[in-house]
Amino acid sequence: SSFSTLPSVDDLISDDPNNNITEAIRSKVGRNLHLQQNHPLNIIKSTIENHFNSTHSEPFALHDSLSPMVSTKHCFDDLLIPPDHVSRSYSDTYYIDADHCLRTHTSAHQSTLIASGESQFLCTGDVYRRDEIDSSHYPVFHQMEGVKMFPLDTPTKVIEDDLKSVLSGMAKTLFGDVEMRWVDAYFPFTEPSYELEIFFNGEWLEVLGSGVIQQQIIRNAGQGEQPGWAFGLGLERLAMVLFEIPDIRLFWSSDPRFHQQFKSGEIIKFKEYSKYPPVHRDISFWTGGKEFHPNDLCEIVRGVCIEEDLVEKVELIDEFVHPKTKKTSNCFRVTYRSMDRSLTNKEVDDIHFQVRDNAVTDLKIEIR
Ligand code: PHE
Repeated sequence: SSFSTLPSVDDLISDDPNNNITEAIRSKVGRNLHLQQNHPLNIIKSTIENHFNSTHSEPFALHDSLSPMVSTKHCFDDLLIPPDHVSRSYSDTYYIDADHCLRTHTSAHQSTLIASGESQFLCTGDVYRRDEIDSSHYPVFHQMEGVKMFPLDTPTKVIEDDLKSVLSGMAKTLFGDVEMRWVDAYFPFTEPSYELEIFFNGEWLEVLGSGVIQQQIIRNAGQGEQPGWAFGLGLERLAMVLFEIPDIRLFWSSDPRFHQQFKSGEIIKFKEYSKYPPVHRDISFWTGGKEFHPNDLCEIVRGVCIEEDLVEKVELIDEFVHPKTKKTSNCFRVTYRSMDRSLTNKEVDDIHFQVRDNAVTDLKIEIR
């Protein structure tokens, strides 16, 4: 690595061959929506923190300002995530250099916090994933991680039961008296692993991932055979459901019509203000020699409208292989829509032209 200590914000974009961080992403680092008073993400965060500390006599330590720039050791290796796991791939993760990335989950802090000797803690922060674009996906979102350690020789059954009762109690605080179920899951860092689902507004909704922490992780963190459980949840996902917020981009809006509606401690229903009309533009191309990944196109789309989030959705609407040349054709539909104002056809044309231009240069595609 080129860093002797952890990288700083100035190192986020560099010529390092492994660096794939864009200006659009860099501009989000340090925004800390989860720390903004009266922001829906902060309301959910505080509600959960209060729940934990009112149901436990020993307080949970609260961490919400740890840097999102982490080593790949903390983000992946320490959690026993195998070297070839998809979550490490260049198309899914924002790398600063080969050994540092923007955390893809708050589990990146599990090992260090366990090593510090804390026996129970909650850790909240912004996490980053290269992803597709639609109303519930944004490359930056917020997670909360929780860990609770137990005395030596606590039977696994006791830990599992505690995990389930504490976390379903939390879900009840958030969602009221809803139906819940525990679904078996898989995470490299917990065994057994469970997801909690609730029946809400007519469908089963995944609320969190959790499990009994792999003993190897705790041992490596210097805490020997002490057992513990962990969970992780996405704050946007919960907030969208609880406040009925229809588009994930709204969390980043500076529109007072959004922010006026929320007050700390209150979970209210969001009233949608006027929706401006969407503008659709298609882009059709032959994918080139370089292997094409839809996330790369989304990255380009995000890159041309940094100041404002103007893209609501990018979807593949047609794909075929030419019978003779064997070339693959893709057609993507981009939905442009501002949440704050009307877009003119002319400005969308300009943006879309820039998208096509950048896609040709950066992705080596061939426009049809
Ligand atoms: N880190 C996991 C994720 O991002 C969630 C998780 C945390 C699961 C802790 C188990 C224990 O999906």
